[in-house]
Amino acid sequence: MKVHQKTEMNLSFIPRIAFRFKTATGAVLVLVGIAIACAAAAEPTMPLEELGRRLFLDVRLSADGKTACASCHQPSRTFQDGRQVSVGAFARRGTRNAPSLLNVASQTVLFWDGRRSSLEEQALDPILNVAEHGLTSEAVLVKMLRGMPEYQNSLEKGSELKTVSAALSAFQKTLVDGRNGFENYLIDGDSTAISDSAKRGWVLFAGRAGCIECHRVESRAPISLTDQAFHSVFIPRQARGLSTTRLVEIFHKLSSEGASYDQMVAETPDLATLGRYVATRDPKDIGRFRTPSLRNVALTAPYMHDGSVSSLAEAVDLEVYYRGRVSGKPLILLDSEKTDIVEFLRSLTAARQMPASKRIGQQ
Ligand code: HEC
Ligand code: HEC
Repeated sequence: MKVHQKTEMNLSFIPRIAFRFKTATGAVLVLVGIAIACAAAAEPTMPLEELGRRLFLDVRLSADGKTACASCHQPSRTFQDGRQVSVGAFARRGTRNAPSLLNVASQTVLFWDGRRSSLEEQALDPILNVAEHGLTSEAVLVKMLRGMPEYQNSLEKGSELKTVSAALSAFQKTLVDGRNGFENYLIDGDSTAISDSAKRGWVLFAGRAGCIECHRVESRAPISLTDQAFHSVFIPRQARGLSTTRLVEIFHKLSSEGASYDQMVAETPDLATLGRYVATRDPKDIGRFRTPSLRNVALTAPYMHDGSVSSLAEAVDLEVYYRGRVSGKPLILLDSEKTDIVEFLRSLTAARQMPASKRIGQQ
């Protein structure tokens, strides 16, 4: 706030001086005043969204000085990183696949286990996560921000953290894709917008294959392709020899010692397999994960919460197999039918990913 006040003082200073001294000295003072005012104006208070964009790209806000939100949510890759699981500061490997942030503002649950429900709540998590930006405390972040002159006019002393959360959220709310071919077909009735194979895939997706039960298709754009709910992933995964009961015990012990969910999930692959349970502690949520939206899914390989599936064809194969298994009604599809479903999934790629994606990439 101090710098902010100084800026205001400089500006109010000029007319007063000009009024009082109509002499050569006065003129010099006016020029000096203008120069000071201009220097201060070079770092104006940024609109929240622009501040968020800069923070999103700023690698300095990390333990190794090399990791930004954009390292794992890359503007040129639909705001994900194309890796199986993310790699953060000092090449620390996480346990989960980074979701695309396109349309993230319409998610009512965040993270694969839904442990957060708003962008504002979530924004500082990655900065303080040891496997992401890796800063050790909020105080470290505040100190860092105070040492960065370009943010001073936008960050009021004492409420830096609140403003950083609000700015990152405001920026992420602008990350929306455009219409995709399937929406043009379904909503506008443009029968040329998708291929015949994709049309057959859609019939299967909504019909016999039952995908639509979780990957919802609403009657207006943007179609979400998720129920924002949690489902069990195929066969419950046995984490490296540890029984589920033992994992739950470890989770409760670490929680009672004050470990945060974020740390546990990011650092301990075994605990990450508990899924939704870490957020609800309801035993039926063990091993449940959020249904991901399938918008732009052809561009977001690898797939699933742990990035264990490398291609779309393989993801469809697994979903066909496991969903049949879970429902108790085995689903038998011909190879050509699976290809049609993949074609349908490809029609969910937006023609325009991000109107301003070029600008977003600029520091
Ligand atoms: C090291 C890589 C990495 C960095 C850096 C990173 N993220 Fe993420 N992000 C991830 C991963 C992995 C997940 C999924 C974690 C999970 O579900 O447990 C995620 C999840 C998210 C989500 C939830 C998305 C959803 O659909 O549920 C948001 C929002 C998000 N990140 C925003 C940010 C912001 C803002 C920053 C910078 C302050 C950031 N991330 C930095 C890897 C990263
Ligand atoms: C019971 C709910 C449910 C049904 C039915 C379902 N899915 Fe899924 N789908 C999910 C969940 C949950 C995940 C995430 C699983 C994980 O991360 O381990 C997922 C993941 C996917 C992915 C990977 C997306 C990504 O970004 O990682 C694809 C592709 C997919 N499903 C396609 C399908 C297809 C095709 C069908 C129909 C054959 C189908 N799903 C049926 C709930 C469902």
